[in-house]
Amino acid sequence: MESLCVRFVKEKDLGSVFKIEKLCFGSEAYSPSLFSYFLTTGFVFLVAEFKGLIIGYCVAEVRNSEGLIISIAVHPKYRGMGAGSALLSKVLSLLDSKRVEKVFLQVKKENKAAVNLYSKFGFEVLKVLKNYYMDGSDAYFMQLLLKHSKTVKG
Ligand SMILES: CC(C)(COP(=O)(O)OP(=O)(O)OC[C@H]1O[C@@H](n2cnc3c(N)ncnc32)[C@H](O)[C@@H]1OP(=O)(O)O)[C@@H](O)C(=O)NCCC(=O)NCCS
Repeated sequence: MESLCVRFVKEKDLGSVFKIEKLCFGSEAYSPSLFSYFLTTGFVFLVAEFKGLIIGYCVAEVRNSEGLIISIAVHPKYRGMGAGSALLSKVLSLLDSKRVEKVFLQVKKENKAAVNLYSKFGFEVLKVLKNYYMDGSDAYFMQLLLKHSKTVKG
């Protein structure tokens, strides 16, 4: 999409990132201090910028050959126009370049938009985690084998 750019987060972006986090996750939102920690501790932390505004972010962790998608969110007003895909695509490329072989994540089973996004990139459900979330809902534990992913290699 024209004018959409995905780049590494900067400290000045953290306020916008946290606003998006609150809008998307409400009482389950990560704290501002956790985002500062992600920024300063070597996490893969990207933002999507559209017409000068921060409209989404994605954070991932690398542990040797394994990656973990910690969170991804796009401002409600800017969903459905490819920002989530652009963020995930770039994060997966970066994990691939760091020689990550397997990427994991947890997502609410009922979160159709996110489950579809992950499936589109080749993530597969490894197991269902019953009562995983505070509200009692189940999670999908999903995995992507990067060496088999056409999206990031192709
Ligand atoms: C999940 C989320 C990041 C997707 O961001 P987005 O910018 O809207 O995503 P995109 O426009 O790139 O869409 C990518 C794919 O996601 C899926 N998708 C997006 N919105 C969807 C919806 N409302 N219903 C079903 N599938 C949807 C589709 O597969 C879509 O691919 P397609 O356009 O080829 O059909 C966004 O909905 C969001 O921020 N949700 C709230 C936060 C959240 O739940 N994060 C995940 C936590 S694990």
